[in-house]
Formats: sequence, C-alpha cells, structure tokens
Amino acid sequence: MKIVHAASELYPYVKTGGLADAVGSLTATLADKGHDVSVFVPGYRAALEHKEVARAEQRLGLRVEMGDRIYSGDVRVLPVRKGLTVYFIGREEFFDRRLPYGNGERDYEDNDARFVFFCKAVVEVMRMAEIRADVVHGHDWQAALLPLLVRYEERRSGVALAMKTVFTIHNIAFQGLFPMRSFALTNLPDELLGIDGFEYYGQINLLKGGILFSDRVMTVSPQYAREIQTPEFGCGLEGVVGTRAEDLAGLLNGIDTKIWNPARDRLLPARYAAHDLTGKSICRAALLKNHGMDEGYRGPVFGMVCRLTQQKGLDLLLAAKDFFVQQDCRLIVLGTGEKKFETALQELARAYPKKIALSSRYDEEMSHLIEAGSDFFLMPSHFEPCGLNQMYSQAYGTVPVVTRVGGFVDTVTDIDEGPEDGTGIVCQPQEADFTRALHRAIQLYRQQESMVAVIKRGMARDFGWQKAAAAYEQLYQDTI
Ligand code: ADP
Ligand code: GLC
Repeated sequence: MKIVHAASELYPYVKTGGLADAVGSLTATLADKGHDVSVFVPGYRAALEHKEVARAEQRLGLRVEMGDRIYSGDVRVLPVRKGLTVYFIGREEFFDRRLPYGNGERDYEDNDARFVFFCKAVVEVMRMAEIRADVVHGHDWQAALLPLLVRYEERRSGVALAMKTVFTIHNIAFQGLFPMRSFALTNLPDELLGIDGFEYYGQINLLKGGILFSDRVMTVSPQYAREIQTPEFGCGLEGVVGTRAEDLAGLLNGIDTKIWNPARDRLLPARYAAHDLTGKSICRAALLKNHGMDEGYRGPVFGMVCRLTQQKGLDLLLAAKDFFVQQDCRLIVLGTGEKKFETALQELARAYPKKIALSSRYDEEMSHLIEAGSDFFLMPSHFEPCGLNQMYSQAYGTVPVVTRVGGFVDTVTDIDEGPEDGTGIVCQPQEADFTRALHRAIQLYRQQESMVAVIKRGMARDFGWQKAAAAYEQLYQDTI
C-alpha cells in the first residue's frame, strides 16, 4: 500500500511527547512490512538541524494559497530507507523557532496559520509529486484539516489522491481552537463553519473537523476510545465523537523495541535482561550518583519522566510530598512544563537534596537511565490516552504505579487484582488512593521475591508494534 502520514512530531527528528514516538515507530514498522510510506512533518528548526536532515539533498519549492495570500514553502525530502520517505515542510517565518508550539510560556499566536499551512502544503506536495495514496492518515489537531483538504483538492482537480482517510486522536484535550476569522486561511467554503462543521462555541475547532470529516477515527487505546465518548473525558467533544461511534476504534500504541530494550540500550551504562538483573543494579547506582545521592542506597527508588502538567498528575505527586519526605525512599523526576509545578518540585528537591531530585530539561539519555535505574515508575495521570512510559517501564523491569485511566487500563494489571499476572500498582487519580499506592509499592519492595516475580512478568510482556501495525494494515485494507 501507499500510505501517507502527517503529524506535528516525529521521532527521531522532533519530539516533545509520545506523539513523536508513536508516529515514528508506526510508520517505520509499516515500511518494514513492505509498504511505501511517506511521512510529513513541519520543518522546525530542531528537525532541520538533525544531522540526517541536514544532509537531505532533494528540495522542493511550493506555493500555498491561504486566504487571499500566496505563501511559499521549501520542502526537504529525506529518503530514510527503502519504503520510508520523510518530507519536512519548511517555511522560516513559521517553523524556524526554538520550540514547536510556543515560547515555553504561551502558544504562538500564529499557530492557526502555521498548521493550516502545514496541512495545505502536504496536499500540495502530494499533487506535485503525484502521490496517489491508499490511505492518508493525519494525527492530532495540527493535521486535522488534512482529510478534508484532500477531498477538496480531489474535487477541484478531478484527480484521486486517497482511497481512504484516517484521523487519530492522541489527546482530545488539545483541540486547535482559534477565532472564527482564522477559518478564512483554509479557503474552505463557509458552509463548513456551522455547528455541523468546525464551529465550536463561537470559535473554530480543528480537531472537531478531523473527527467529522475523516473516513475512520482512531485513538490510541481501547479504553480511551470508550472514555472520550463520556463528559468526564471527552473535553466537550464527547457528543461529536459519539456521532462517529461506528467509525471509531481504539488501537493500543506499541513501543519501539529497538530503542526501548534494556538488553540492547546503548544509552545505559550497563545492559540487562530478565534472567540476570545485575546490569539494572549498575544503572540504579549510576542514576543515584548522577543525582548526587548515595549510590549504595538500598531502599526503593521512584522515577518519573513526563511533561510537568496537570494531565500527568503533578498535583497528586505534590500532594504526596510528606510520603517522600518521611519514608525511606528516593524520588527522581525528569521533566519540563508548567512553572508552578516546576517551582514546587524544585523547592522540594532543594530542601531534601539527598532524597528528592528534579532535572528540568529534555534529556533523552537521562529518560532511559531513569527507566532502567528506578524500582518504581510513577504515572499518576488524571487522563492518559495511551501512555508509553508504563510500557517502557515494564520492559525495563521497573514496576509502574499508574492510575485507572485510558491506556493504563489496557497495559497494566494490578498486582493484588491479578496475583498471577499483575505487573504494576493501579490506583484512582485521587490523593488518598495515590498515597496508598505508594505505600503498597514500599511493601512490595520489602518482599524481594514477590518484587522479582512482578518485574519478570512485566519484562516478559510483549508491547512491540507488530500487533498494532497488523491491525492498522487491516484497517487500511478494509473497505469503508
Ligand atoms: P505524552 O505524549 O502525553 O507526553 P507519553 O507517555 O505518550 O505522554 O510519552 C511521553 C514521551 O516523552 C515518553 O517517551 C517520555 O519518556 C518522553 N519525555 C517526556 N518528558 C521528557 C523529558 N523531559 N526528557 C526526555 N524525555 C521526555
Ligand atoms: C498523547 C497522549 C499519550 C499518548 C501519546 C501517543 O500525547 O497524551 O497518552 O501515549 O499521545 O499516542
């Protein structure tokens, strides 16, 4: 099949979260299976500075109409390997910035123009390069216009560009909301502005358009597919999602076992597998030392790597601070995000430097060391469409402590509920239950035999992409 993907992040070129990993490994797995895959991503500064991309020789010039202006663009074409080509849609004015979505404090004011341009440019490249796809697959609000734009271009030109369009919601909390007047940038007819179209409480909602105007709507776990049809998790779009219930499915993301595999991980000071965990102890010592803590410490180490936001349950973590201060344990956090969370954690780390540490930066190598060197991995999210770190954790022999939401429900079995197959500790996203879960972790840690059994069960689980990629193939092939 000829498959086109478009997303605002793609590992290894640009990543702020799991979207990059998910799109990176899904597209690579599809290419490995013999499909012809083209992936489109904005040519952000960070992506263009990536060493592989800097070497890309082929460039395409393009022109895109937005409103009553013509915008030029510059596309780098990177033939990654057989069956996999990445197109970086460049335009300095829009993408030559330090960060993809905002300046660290606020979203960029021109995100409407930036991502309308991105979607239109994808269609334009497909037209120019004569890409006739079996499937055009967009991810999240930044690529939500693509399915509809493809159909409008087909109507205009009389040339078929895609047999089928698919749209995946990775996080329904991010919707791409803009003032009504931004719609003019799309050059789509005003009749699409109504309540059955992009209109959402007096604004336009790009995610809503993606949900309404794609042949199939996907999300990243079966549980999240159910949740987003409820007011509790639908973020106001539960009704819209409900109208597509028949075309909606949740397919669990996989993990890239070439990158996230403790037996082969070159970012670690030592490698290990389930039959011999010596390397894990070496990683643990390195992790503690790296954070100025006693490397011979014998109690439990709790690790956490995430965007420091409300979604990720930073409020719950901070509410449990007495636990970390009073109990014999260590807490090591890596992440950046909202200032209030960063400051509160920083203060805690300053007050208890031998017990608590925060590294507020993006650091791929450290994220691997925390996965490998911790005993428990904390994910007290209020909602979690899929979540990747709980799967990385199980692969790395680190027991995840998660909430009973979204992808966690599909990937972690609680040790008390499944004495034979439990791989983690599951709690409600509430202060008291989270603190109880932390105490359960300490208890488990004290029973070394049970702890090792839980670790081994986690390491034996298969979270690879093969299953999900096969399901996507099936979805692409099914007639609508
Ligand atoms: P989300 O996409 O909602 O942020 P996921 O669990 O799907 O959550 O994926 C987050 C990914 O981003 C993981 O691979 C995680 O390790 C990585 N990550 C988050 N923050 C950092 C950081 N500060 N440094 C390195 N990796 C990070
Ligand atoms: C989103 C979600 C996360 C998911 C990721 C990849 O960022 O917040 O739960 O794992 O997308 O699909």
